[in-house]
Amino acid sequence: MQETNHVAVFDFGSQYTQLIVRRVRELGFYAKLYSPEDIAEVGSPAAVILSGGPKSTSEPDAPDIDFEKLQSFGVPVLGVCYGMQLLNIKFGGSVKASNKREYGPAMLKPTSHDDLYAGISGESQVWMSHSDTVENLHAKAQVIAANQHGTPVSLKWPGEFYGIQFHPEVTHSHEGNQILKNFLNRATDLQPFLIEDFKREMIEGIRERVGDKQVVCGVSGGVDSTVLVVLLNEAGVNVRAIFVDNGLLRKDEAAEVQANFKRMGVEIETIDASKRFLDALAGKEDPEEKRKIIGNMFIEVFWDAVGDAEMLAQGTLYPDVIESASNAKSKASVIKTHHNRVPKILELQAQGKVLEPLAELFKDEVRELGASLNIEADILGRHPFPGPGLAVRCPGAVDQNRLDIIRDCDAIFIGKLKEHGWYDKVWQAYAGLIPVKTVGVKGDERSYEWATNLRAVISEDAMTAEWVDLPAQLLREASQDILNEVSGINRVLYDISTKPPASIEWE
Ligand code: XMP
Repeated sequence: MQETNHVAVFDFGSQYTQLIVRRVRELGFYAKLYSPEDIAEVGSPAAVILSGGPKSTSEPDAPDIDFEKLQSFGVPVLGVCYGMQLLNIKFGGSVKASNKREYGPAMLKPTSHDDLYAGISGESQVWMSHSDTVENLHAKAQVIAANQHGTPVSLKWPGEFYGIQFHPEVTHSHEGNQILKNFLNRATDLQPFLIEDFKREMIEGIRERVGDKQVVCGVSGGVDSTVLVVLLNEAGVNVRAIFVDNGLLRKDEAAEVQANFKRMGVEIETIDASKRFLDALAGKEDPEEKRKIIGNMFIEVFWDAVGDAEMLAQGTLYPDVIESASNAKSKASVIKTHHNRVPKILELQAQGKVLEPLAELFKDEVRELGASLNIEADILGRHPFPGPGLAVRCPGAVDQNRLDIIRDCDAIFIGKLKEHGWYDKVWQAYAGLIPVKTVGVKGDERSYEWATNLRAVISEDAMTAEWVDLPAQLLREASQDILNEVSGINRVLYDISTKPPASIEWE
C-alpha cells in the first residue's frame, strides 16, 4: 500500500534506524521504514529522514539513493550521520574518509538561529558514532551547528534539506527529540499516529483477508501472541489457538497461561510435548544445536496438530520484519535469523496464507493496542520470554533436574522483584543455571553444588541492554531464599554485563 503524508525513513543500515521510526511515532506521527532502493514505493511522504549507516560513502558498494526522486517529493529532508554525508555529496561537496572513529558524547552548539535548533540550549549533549566527516561544502550550504571544537556537525542546503552528524534518536542526545520535533514542524499535513485508528484498520484488514477461513495461531502466553489472538477474536474470525508446552517453561507457566486466556474468554488448545522436547535435547550442549532442535521440534509438533492450515497468523512485530529485511539485503549485521521466517512459513507466505497484523507495530505499541482491547495490565506487563525457553538460560545440556532448579530459583527471584515493586521497573529478569560445581557448607555438611545467575536488565526492544542496579536488600532476600530453599544451589551470582557485548540470555 502506498502511504501519504507520512514520514519516510530510509535505512542505510545503522543499528539505530528503528529508533528513528519509534521516536517519530512517539512524537505522534506515522513513520515507516524503507530501503533506499525502494524509493519508488514510498508514495507521497510529508517528510523524509535518511538514517545513518556503517559504510563509508567512499566504499564502492556504499548504499545510495535516487536524489532526483528524493527532490521530487518537495518535502523537508533530514540526513542523519551517513545520511548527511550522502546529502553533502549530492549537493556537490565531499566527504573525508577516516579510520578514526568518534564514538560517544559531543557538545552541540547551534551557530545560527535556524528553526531546527529552536528551543535548544547553547550547548547540548549529542551522541556521535562516525568516522567520516563532511568537507568542501556546496556554496549554498549553511553551517547551522558545530561541535565543541568548531567542526561543522549540522548543515542546511537549499530546498529544506538538513544534515546532522549526530544521532538525535538515541537518549544520550539529550535534546534529540526536540530537534526531531523541530524538523517535523517544517512539514505540512503530517499523518497522526493513533493506535485506535490502527486497530480499526487492522480489524478491517483481517476481516477482508480471512473471510470465513479458519486461522491457526500459536500462543505462548507472551504479549504479542496474546494481543494477536484477542485482536483476531475481536475481528470475529474463526481462530484456532494452539499452545505448545515444550517443557522449557517457567514454574507453573502452562497453568498460568491457560488461566489467563480463560480470564479473557479465549479458548486455547494445549499440547503437552515436553517429553518430546526433552528427549530430543538430551545430552546436547552446543547452543546453536539446542536452538535448532527446539525450533524444529516446535514446527513438527505444531504442524502435526494443525494439519493443512487455511491460514496462519503470527505475532511478528515491526522490528522482526525490519531485521529480516535488512538481513536479506545485508546492510546491518544480524546476529540471529528470526524464528518467524523459517522455510515452512516462507512457503506459506508465498501462498498468501500468512497473516501478520502486528507487523507495523513496536512492542510498546502492541501493549497500547492490547490495553485498547481490554487486556489486563498484568498480562500486558509480562516480561519477554524467549521461544527456546529455559534452555537458553542453562549453558550446556538441559534435563529435568536442571530445569526444575532454574524454575525454583527464577520463581523466588521474580517473586522478590514483585514484592519490592521492581518487576514493572525492569524490562526483563530471570534466574538461570551455571552448571559448574563449587564448594560450600550447608548445615554442617560440605556442599558441592551449582550456581544460579540472576539477571535483570532495562532495554529498548532488546537491541541493547543495561543491568539494573537492584536494591541490595532485594538481592539479599532473593539470595537467602534461594540458598535455603533450592537444593542443588550453593551460590547466587548477579550478572552485571551490558548488551553488547553480552546478550540478555546466556545462549
Ligand atoms: P538476547 O539474548 O539475544 O535476547 O540478547 C534478546 C531478547 O530476545 C529474547 N530472545 C528470544 N525470543 N525467540 C524469542 O522469541 C528466541 O529464539 C529468542 N532468543 C532470545 C530474549 O529473551 C531477549 O528478550
